[in-house]
Amino acid sequence: MPTQAWLDILRCPRDGERIVAGDDPSNAATSGRRCRGGHPIAAGEGIVKLVWPERMMVRDAHMNRMYDRLAPFYDWSERLGTRLFGVHTIRERTAIVERLELRPGLRVLEVSPGPGVYQKLITDHIGPSGSLAELDLSLAMLGACARRARKHGLDPLLVQANASYLPFADDSFDAVFHFGGVKLFSEPGRALDEFVRVAKPGALVAWGDEGFGAGAPTGWRRRALQRINPGFAEPVPPLPDGVSDATEHEVMNGCAWLVVARKAAVGSERLAAL
Ligand SMILES: C[S@@+](CC[C@H](N)C(=O)[O-])C[C@H]1O[C@@H](n2cnc3c(N)ncnc32)[C@H](O)[C@@H]1O
Repeated sequence: MPTQAWLDILRCPRDGERIVAGDDPSNAATSGRRCRGGHPIAAGEGIVKLVWPERMMVRDAHMNRMYDRLAPFYDWSERLGTRLFGVHTIRERTAIVERLELRPGLRVLEVSPGPGVYQKLITDHIGPSGSLAELDLSLAMLGACARRARKHGLDPLLVQANASYLPFADDSFDAVFHFGGVKLFSEPGRALDEFVRVAKPGALVAWGDEGFGAGAPTGWRRRALQRINPGFAEPVPPLPDGVSDATEHEVMNGCAWLVVARKAAVGSERLAAL
């Protein structure tokens, strides 16, 4: 089960209650943990399971099935994509993480890490005094994150949950980062609101996804990308409330965008009242 520091900020997505030791610690299915509202919390293979709503909305369920199937081939398909479409994935990912202003000791949430392609890049910045939570809907992707972490001697918190219902307390993270899924979530606006909610006031919140910019490929490459991934045609979602200093960047050789913003330093309730 997660360390006490993680338990302090984890919340049941049903009722927002803290997660406490249950009355049956021998129950392997729940690890004996319940939320204070009494709902059992499942965990296994080093992954805490806090998916809500239990019955996923249509798009989320579809994405979940698709990414569970894609997980074993994800790294391979990326390498192929790099060759075909000329995207310098490693260089571009490095540049994206450099925009997050990470430094040693920070507590970072990465939403939708896939198989953990940013895991090492992020932990290199935050060092052993920092901590990383990786949250994805796909158990197969989280399994790949766990294997990658073992290979690099890392120990991220792995959580199966829906990005639009984050199982964390308000104001928990020094940085929140998401790349590559928001436009295809069932509730993208809600997910962005959640990224802001769980960030500490003043923390950096960054999210990005596919979309053609000035440097994007043209001709058959463009048509092929659009066909493979309908996300290229979807508009950039509007900014969530409660952020300031938002800037938009073209990344992945013109095949994606990244918004970098800060959670406004005043509480969201006060912002709403202004
Ligand atoms: C294209 S992959 C991106 C992986 C990685 N971030 C990258 O940049 O390569 C999209 C990821 O979003 C996850 N995902 C899809 N819907 C989700 C949701 N509603 N909540 C959390 N994660 C979700 C998928 O399981 C998958 O791992």
